[in-house]
Amino acid sequence: MANGSILYPLLVACLLVSSSFQSLHRHDVDSAMPSLTLDVDKSFHGCDQNLELKEAVCSHKGLDTVPQNLSEDTEMLVLSDNNITKLLNSSFEVYPLIKSLEISLNDVRAIESAAFYPLMGLMYLDLSFNPRLVLPATGVFMMSSQLSILDLAALYTTSLPNDILKWIPHLYYADLSFNQLSFINLSSCGMADTVDMRGNKLHNLTAKDFTFLCLTDTLDLRYNPIKSVDPDVIASLHVRSLMLGGYRFSDEVLANIILGISKSDIKLLKIEYCSVGAFPKGFFDPLSDSSLSVLEFNGNNLTSLHPLVFSNLTKVRNFRFSDNKLPIDEVQPDFFDGMNALKVLAINDNKLKLDYCDITNLYPLVFSGLESLETLSLKGNNIQHIHDDVLSGLGQIQSINLEGNRIEYLEEIMFSNNWKLTNLSLANNRLTRLNQSTFKPIFFSISSLDLSMNLIDCNCDLKWLIDWLNEPNIRLNNKDKTICSSASLEPLREKPLLDFDPNELCIIKYGLYSLIPLVSISLVVISVLLYHHRWQLRYKLFLLKLAALGYKEMRDARDHNDYEFDVNIIFYDDDEEWIREQLRPALEERLPQFQRNVFGDEDLVLGMHYLDSVDYVVSHSYKTIIVLSRAAVLDHWFILKFRTAMDHVSDTLTEFVVVVFLEDIPGDEMPFLARLYLSDGRPYLHWTENVRGQEYFWDELTKSLTINLRTNDLIPNE
Ligand SMILES: *[C@@H]1O[C@H](CO)[C@@H](O)[C@H](O)[C@H]1NC(C)=O
Ligand SMILES: *[C@@H]1O[C@H](CO)[C@@H](O)[C@H](O)[C@H]1NC(C)=O
Ligand SMILES: *[C@@H]1O[C@H](CO)[C@@H](O)[C@H](O)[C@H]1NC(C)=O
Ligand SMILES: *[C@@H]1O[C@H](CO)[C@@H](O)[C@H](O)[C@H]1NC(C)=O
Ligand SMILES: *[C@@H]1O[C@H](CO)[C@@H](O)[C@H](O)[C@H]1NC(C)=O
Ligand SMILES: *[C@@H]1O[C@H](CO)[C@@H](O)[C@H](O)[C@H]1NC(C)=O
Ligand SMILES: *[C@@H]1O[C@H](CO)[C@@H](O)[C@H](O)[C@H]1NC(C)=O
Ligand SMILES: *[C@@H]1O[C@H](CO)[C@@H](O)[C@H](O)[C@H]1NC(C)=O
Ligand SMILES: *[C@@H]1O[C@H](CO)[C@@H](O)[C@H](O)[C@H]1NC(C)=O
Repeated sequence: MANGSILYPLLVACLLVSSSFQSLHRHDVDSAMPSLTLDVDKSFHGCDQNLELKEAVCSHKGLDTVPQNLSEDTEMLVLSDNNITKLLNSSFEVYPLIKSLEISLNDVRAIESAAFYPLMGLMYLDLSFNPRLVLPATGVFMMSSQLSILDLAALYTTSLPNDILKWIPHLYYADLSFNQLSFINLSSCGMADTVDMRGNKLHNLTAKDFTFLCLTDTLDLRYNPIKSVDPDVIASLHVRSLMLGGYRFSDEVLANIILGISKSDIKLLKIEYCSVGAFPKGFFDPLSDSSLSVLEFNGNNLTSLHPLVFSNLTKVRNFRFSDNKLPIDEVQPDFFDGMNALKVLAINDNKLKLDYCDITNLYPLVFSGLESLETLSLKGNNIQHIHDDVLSGLGQIQSINLEGNRIEYLEEIMFSNNWKLTNLSLANNRLTRLNQSTFKPIFFSISSLDLSMNLIDCNCDLKWLIDWLNEPNIRLNNKDKTICSSASLEPLREKPLLDFDPNELCIIKYGLYSLIPLVSISLVVISVLLYHHRWQLRYKLFLLKLAALGYKEMRDARDHNDYEFDVNIIFYDDDEEWIREQLRPALEERLPQFQRNVFGDEDLVLGMHYLDSVDYVVSHSYKTIIVLSRAAVLDHWFILKFRTAMDHVSDTLTEFVVVVFLEDIPGDEMPFLARLYLSDGRPYLHWTENVRGQEYFWDELTKSLTINLRTNDLIPNE
């Protein structure tokens, strides 16, 4: 009888009823104890009374009149499911304190006009399902100024008294649904937040047959066989949300609705289940200057769309056309041109019967104009593949739902521009492999991820995913439905993904145990050798990398003079001594051409917010050095700065950051960001107390400060 928000008060009422049942039941059980039987009295008509809560529940007791000998201070009276046929002027005189009265599912046919007058505090009245009820012609709620919820559903009545809402200043919810009303004259009416008139017989929304002057948030006229609409009637409504549909509408009816909306203050229009097959060209044009911000066209029969049909909806912020039959590859780039204000777009469940050879693709640039979009839902559309560029215009996007499609793999750069993405659902697709590169741009923004109902191959390549999911700021939804496929490592097959502990399994996998003694010895030997020659070796490796990968191609053409700053050094306050005594002199000696350096927070740009300034300097420096120490990685601001720099690396695809480790940081203290940095093979150097080591350190640092490489994930880790 009612949808979500409307249900709430009813729910509360139901809970009140059921809680009273529960407490009564409890008393029954305890009735052996005399002290508790006092407030329970079941002698009258078998009604259950709770004197303490001032409630009387007399449902399904075969009553044919309102019982007169219940407690006089009753506030809640339930008389539903009886045989009451009449409510008299005197019926409620003995219960003047009633606030909540339920007389649904009886056979009330007549109500004397003063029947409710004694109930000055009445807030909730349910008369629904009295199929032969004729309301008194006038004045029935004259004394009911407190009424908040009025349920007159399913009376099968053909007319309402004109003044039925006249004396109620603020009705929260009026349920007039599933009657036989073909004529409405509510010309005298206060506020009525939600008015539900679904399932009546309204044919004509015309001045003659439909007058509705309540101040209303939601007017639900669905399931009325509307045949004619006068745009001025719609224009005169004081309604925020209007819902229509459930019957086939003629083109003329639709056009008049749109015309009426364009002249009204209506903000939300929902036209559902009325078999609209296509929008004629220019159909929405009248809405270009309206105040409409939400448009829903769900459950229709749309199979194709004219290009530019939405282009004048420049103010609509929320647009849904779910549950139609629109093939997703019909949605062309220019459909959304001009919808600049759009924040929410939902094209869900446009299920099609597909030939198996059909490729169901989204056009690459289909969302390119939707720069403000925050929520995109493409649930249940049989999408097989999302092209690189489909999401790249959505710089403000926070939530993407791709649930219930047929996606088998994700492009590596598909999220590269979605820095603000917090919620991502890929549930119920056909994903088996996930590539770390795909998720890198959204590693830090995602807080809610759904990968359930895919058949993920759990193997050691997925270590990054497990590490990521173990971070505190990300939540994996539907964990119990996120299962490893049967192609996974043996112990993981059909097991929850989160049972996977790569640290344990991925060593066992290589069967190293039997080799351990031998390996350990060789490792010791090799380590000693490596340790002794490590600086030369590293340098060789560095040169080798450059040679192997082609020095020229990878080099960024700009030099330090093309930037506002030469080197930007990010460090933690406690490490200032190293900067002062080691780094500054070395830079002055080795790189005298670098004069415009930024040493820490002191040199940041004045007159900007702190993080803006950090961002500005990072993006305007040729090079950035990040100095890591155990204390630094514990500092929130330091990590934010580190992250800003990393964002720019991904952004510019330029390897302009060098990380310097001042000391060893134990694995468990190493922040995720640093681990990610290292696992990507990004450049880093270790400071050492060893004098030869220091020489190598400065050589290496000098070298990396004088070139900028393009990022290339093919570089082997050092
Ligand atoms: C209502 O009255 C009819 C006859 O008048 C009877 O058949 C029916 O059982 C009664 N219903 C209840 C709930 O007592
Ligand atoms: C309550 O009223 C009914 C009739 O309406 C009567 O049968 C019953 O005896 C009354 N009980 C008491 C306690 O007055
Ligand atoms: C009930 O009250 C109304 C209004 O006071 C009055 O007009 C009507 O005659 C009353 N009905 C009966 C049966 O007394
Ligand atoms: C709706 O209006 C038409 C034309 O004015 C009229 O013939 C018809 O009876 C009206 N329908 C209802 C249910 O009032
Ligand atoms: C609606 O009711 C008001 C007051 O009862 C009356 O003045 C008006 O003429 C009615 N309008 C229609 C269209 O019947
Ligand atoms: C939906 O559209 C198809 C094709 O345009 C048409 O054959 C079908 O009858 C329509 N269904 C309804 C319920 O209007
Ligand atoms: C609606 O959009 C079309 C195509 O973009 C444009 O030519 C036309 O002028 C617009 N109409 C209005 C009323 O804005
Ligand atoms: C994202 O997910 C969280 C938790 O599941 C939820 O509370 C929040 O409303 C979602 N945000 C958006 C924009 O969908
Ligand atoms: C991820 O993408 C990279 C680059 O294309 C590729 O080399 C690598 O094999 C992919 N990894 C997986 C697990 O598919």
